[in-house]
Amino acid sequence: MKQKIVFATNNAHKLEEVAAILGENYEVLSLREIGCHDDIPETADTFSGNAIQKAQYIKEHYGYDCFADDSGLEVDVLGGAPGVFSARYSGGGSEANMDKLLHNLTEKSERGAQFRTVIALLVGEETHLFEGVVRGTITHERRGEGGFGYDPIFVPEGYDLTFAQLGSEIKNRISHRAKAVEKLAEYLCKQLKIEN
Ligand code: IMP
Repeated sequence: MKQKIVFATNNAHKLEEVAAILGENYEVLSLREIGCHDDIPETADTFSGNAIQKAQYIKEHYGYDCFADDSGLEVDVLGGAPGVFSARYSGGGSEANMDKLLHNLTEKSERGAQFRTVIALLVGEETHLFEGVVRGTITHERRGEGGFGYDPIFVPEGYDLTFAQLGSEIKNRISHRAKAVEKLAEYLCKQLKIEN
């Protein structure tokens, strides 16, 4: 029988991505599937703090082993901003967030940045963290229609196109999230082998 594990998200895209990697050995349950419709607190000032906070909430209130993720964009010349505030940077949606970021980088030639994801896994009494980073640069204007968030203004290292132009197949191979999920999967699959 497959071992059940909860991914503290209802984001269908993230669930699909993770289930595709873990699916053979684990049944990955969403928050909806465990009957959780709560507004889970996310008030820490680091990605790892938020990921741990979300995972701990599920463990405490629903009793499942689980993992949670938190990610964002960190711009070098802005001291790592917007960071944990990536989703709420402008107070508006993604378009307003990109406008604000491009405005804050006007006249700046140093445009290095990175996307970062941290996944917190809570199994039994243990907490494990997995991190994924993709380095790149911020463009001067939006390019491409695909993706979400800051994708139209981020060009990953080794490419000339933005995440929005590259498409999901390439993005899902090289992204911060993919890297963190791969590390999580490697750990979980190793654990299964030890247990069986
Ligand atoms: P989350 O923690 O994965 O929900 O990400 C928080 C915010 O960071 C999102 O709302 C986006 O603004 C930004 N972000 C995270 N990952 C990505 C990505 O892959 N592309 C574009 N923006 C992202």
